[in-house]
Amino acid sequence: MKRPGLLKTISVLAFVWTAACGENVVQETGGPSELREALASPPAAIPVETPDVNARRGRLQFITRGCVICHQVNGVGGTAAPDLSAASAPDLINPLDFSARMWRGAPAMTALQAVELGYVIELDAQDIADLAAFAASPEEQKLLTLDSVPADMRDWFIDAPHWRSDDWTEYLQRGERIPGLEEEEL
Ligand code: HEC
Repeated sequence: MKRPGLLKTISVLAFVWTAACGENVVQETGGPSELREALASPPAAIPVETPDVNARRGRLQFITRGCVICHQVNGVGGTAAPDLSAASAPDLINPLDFSARMWRGAPAMTALQAVELGYVIELDAQDIADLAAFAASPEEQKLLTLDSVPADMRDWFIDAPHWRSDDWTEYLQRGERIPGLEEEEL
């Protein structure tokens, strides 16, 4: 029987590798208690800049940058991607947390954008801060009505969560686009 033999070899290798890495960690940091101590006294505090956030600008960005094509808010938008409706009470705005959520969703999101829009949406820190504020503001989200989305754009709403389907790789290879969406219109 070949398999158990191979598995045994792999586990022996894994053991040797783990032991070697363990030794490295101890050598480099001097052990877990030293590591804890080192982390408890970081270098001098670094000032952190807090961006000014504007949920109104976030709402406009949500439409004009095309988020609404895939994401729904207040029942308006595509359903291809997770709904970004805020909780009913205003939430704490944490642009870093919002950024981290986007980062987690980035592989599927950017692939879908590349296929459907023909490009990947570029955002700067201010855009993300404003979009985070919009995502946390039930009051501003109420203003996102179907009428506030340009008619052309409403035709581009994507309702199929292709990225969840079995043929996602095949779909990407086909390079499907939204019917009628021309690059010069963007
Ligand atoms: C072409 C479709 C598409 C567009 C346009 C798009 N997204 Fe996404 N987005 C996705 C998909 C698909 C996911 C989910 C990925 C996953 O869960 O793996 C996602 C995930 C996210 C998430 C994480 C959701 C969660 O569950 O926490 C956030 C936040 C997000 N997008 C924000 C935005 C913003 C802001 C814009 C506009 C600047 C935008 N997206 C534009 C498709 C899109």
